[in-house]
Amino acid sequence: MMKKVVSVLVLVSCFSTAVFAQEYDQLVMEASNNLLASDYQVALELYQQAFQTEGGNTFDLYNAACAAALCENSDLAFIYLEIAVNSNLIEKQWLEKDDDLVNLHSDSRWYTLLAAMDSRVDSLLASLPEDHPEGPVVVLPQPRLSSDVSVEEAMQNRRSIRCYEDSPLTIVEVSQLLWSAYGVNYPVENAPDFLRGGLRTAPSAGALYPLELYLVARNVTDLDPGIYWYKSETHELVRIAGEDCWEEFSNAGFDQLHFETAAAAIVYSGIFERCTEKYGDRGRERYVCMDLGHSAENVYLQAYALNIGTCAIGAFSDPALKQVIRMTRTEVPLYIMPLGKV
Ligand SMILES: Cc1cc2nc3c(=O)[nH]c(=O)nc-3n(C[C@H](O)[C@H](O)[C@H](O)COP(=O)(O)O)c2cc1C
Repeated sequence: MMKKVVSVLVLVSCFSTAVFAQEYDQLVMEASNNLLASDYQVALELYQQAFQTEGGNTFDLYNAACAAALCENSDLAFIYLEIAVNSNLIEKQWLEKDDDLVNLHSDSRWYTLLAAMDSRVDSLLASLPEDHPEGPVVVLPQPRLSSDVSVEEAMQNRRSIRCYEDSPLTIVEVSQLLWSAYGVNYPVENAPDFLRGGLRTAPSAGALYPLELYLVARNVTDLDPGIYWYKSETHELVRIAGEDCWEEFSNAGFDQLHFETAAAAIVYSGIFERCTEKYGDRGRERYVCMDLGHSAENVYLQAYALNIGTCAIGAFSDPALKQVIRMTRTEVPLYIMPLGKV
């Protein structure tokens, strides 16, 4: 499983590349090819050589652990795994489901490792807030309600874009994108609590609105870099963290190409309980992600109309993303949508 995730990322990265520390990358690429071709011993030796030139990134260490486990070299496999899981980018389910690691299951160190992963996630969750923050607040400009770009033109030309111009977005553009995602377009006075202000730009099963949105600002005029919670009922941003967290954010998204040039990103999460209380499993298995799709498509179309590129990203580490965004405990991270001028 991990190898599949990583090969998708490698494939995406190939489009960008001018880059990569040549010797390490060459060795790791050959190692990965050998691993896929079931030449485990050769793969392991190549990984070892690569780690002598550089420390080794999380996913390469993980794959090296797979090679070592397949060679029945448990000691080395555990050394690599322990370093890899320290990054918080590897999830326990991946290890449990990975057939390459089956040889480790009978070793007592396997259970120690899994238990340590559990307790790391528990303490991470315990460090997260229970509620969204109160302030400081940035009042966003009101959205515009007309455009020179038709909905048809936006649907025809919309594309997932992964490289962006090196220029800032404006707070007006960011405001427009957030509004298109989840802004209130039909305020309801004295609305019941679950409506949180009224009906929105995206439909929602039972009008329960299970999504939460965050903005990670990196290069936005008139907005300090940092992490903000989008308070959709009042169309405001509430500042969560001010320090430069882009690198940590990029790591949580497996350093996919988008993070190199994006000026900002919208991060989606879901509070499933808002839906499951009424709809049970149907809420969990269908409605929350259906709601997400509606909202994210709005962002795609609005971004096109603003000459801004975006891409839905579903591949990231849940705990690492929750931690960097400082999501509340019950939220499940769902999408990252990087944003940048095309
Ligand atoms: C649920 C979902 C998850 C996705 N995850 C990623 C991702 O992690 N990285 C990425 O570059 N693109 C991701 N995409 C974008 C797809 O690769 C893209 O939509 C697809 O290649 C079709 O291209 P288009 O959107 O330009 O039509 C994802 C799309 C969806 C719907």
